[in-house]
Amino acid sequence: MRKLNVLNIVGARPQIIKASAISRAIATQFADEINEIIVHTGQHYDRELSEVFFDELEIRKPDHNLQVGSGRHGRQTGLILERIEEVIMNEKPDCVIIYGDTNSTLAAALAAAKQHYPVVHIEAGMRSFNKTMPEELNRITADHASTLLFASTNTAFKNLMTEGFRPENVAPYNINNPRIFLTGDIMYDNSLFYADLADRKKQDFLSNMGLTEDQFVLVTIHRDMNTDDLGRLTAIFNTLIDLADSNQMVMVMPLHPRTIIALRNKAPELYERLTGNNLIRVISPVSFLEMILLEKKARMVITDSGGVQKESHFFSKPCIVLRKETEWVELVKNGTVKLADADPVRIAEAWEYFLHNKELLQYPGFYGDGKAAITILKEITEVFRS
Ligand code: UD1
Ligand code: UDP
Repeated sequence: MRKLNVLNIVGARPQIIKASAISRAIATQFADEINEIIVHTGQHYDRELSEVFFDELEIRKPDHNLQVGSGRHGRQTGLILERIEEVIMNEKPDCVIIYGDTNSTLAAALAAAKQHYPVVHIEAGMRSFNKTMPEELNRITADHASTLLFASTNTAFKNLMTEGFRPENVAPYNINNPRIFLTGDIMYDNSLFYADLADRKKQDFLSNMGLTEDQFVLVTIHRDMNTDDLGRLTAIFNTLIDLADSNQMVMVMPLHPRTIIALRNKAPELYERLTGNNLIRVISPVSFLEMILLEKKARMVITDSGGVQKESHFFSKPCIVLRKETEWVELVKNGTVKLADADPVRIAEAWEYFLHNKELLQYPGFYGDGKAAITILKEITEVFRS
């Protein structure tokens, strides 16, 4: 039987991590049926945002690296579009798998759909209902260019139905007759799979950093709304310094390069206060296994990341989200994510609540059974075989 040729498209850090769930499931269960071709757009290129994940998560080196690098949205998206079109033309895949909502997702979706190759969107249907976010435009466009759409949550599945996608569509599927599925979240698969490995492989990571369980708070900040707006940037970091000082709480901040660049360039005094504070550890981005350990052992998490707020739930940690809204609305309803925007008062209130109400918090399973990647690949093989 002919193997399916599947392009697996990555570009930014979280996509490399997400793709590892699909690569692993192909290698262990679908090797006879699927030939995986990995394409890295090169959107992220620093070792700590890219290569480290290929090494640690044992993902094969990409078959194609488009090396687009950083740039304004138009240029970056345009370069990916141009270069990935060529790859798709040459590889003639049975389908193109894309993840999430980055410029790499958008460009790959457009390039594939315009050449009439079926797009498979994993993490479809997420909506913030805020179109000023570049990610919202990317994900809406990607969904509407897709043939198979895999939603991680009930809410995402319902969002797709609201936009006219119909679960009752029958094969043959195509961009005009797409199929939507509710499968659970491949990042939940990953957290389950890598949690034990993190304990085994990185035993000394936390002690080498001088960290004690429950005695530190994990912070990540990278979203453009927070790095590019000086008012928000300074409000957030001033509040974090105040909270660390007044509670004598250690904060670990593996910061994305864009945040470091923004602080250095736009708020150098604040950056000095931050790095000079002995309770605050500003560190380079960490590997996924290291991140899992930080999430597992932190007292709470403060972030503007989509992935990190969800992982805080996987590891039963409360999370303050530095945004006005989130796509992962079930976490807010559940009370374990509090949206604090960039508002010092709301951040401090959420902090106080989470610090003193641990026993009230519960972490139900919203994200499937940990086998989302296998479910997705079963559907892909069934649809594109027939
Ligand atoms: C991108 C995604 C965002 C996702 C994030 C994951 C878009 C529009 N945004 O944001 O949805 O949450 O990835 O981390 O696709 N840089 C480096 N080294 C790198 C890569 C980037 O220093 O390897 C710096 C550059 O200064 C660059 C900036 O970070 O201009 C932003 O990078 P970019 O890929 O454009 O967006 P992210 O903020 O990473
Ligand atoms: N992550 C990591 N090291 C870090 C910060 C994040 O491995 O220093 C992982 C994190 O565990 C999650 C993913 O990267 O799986 C989230 O990526 P990011 O926050 O960059 O993007 P988002 O999820 O917001 O798109």
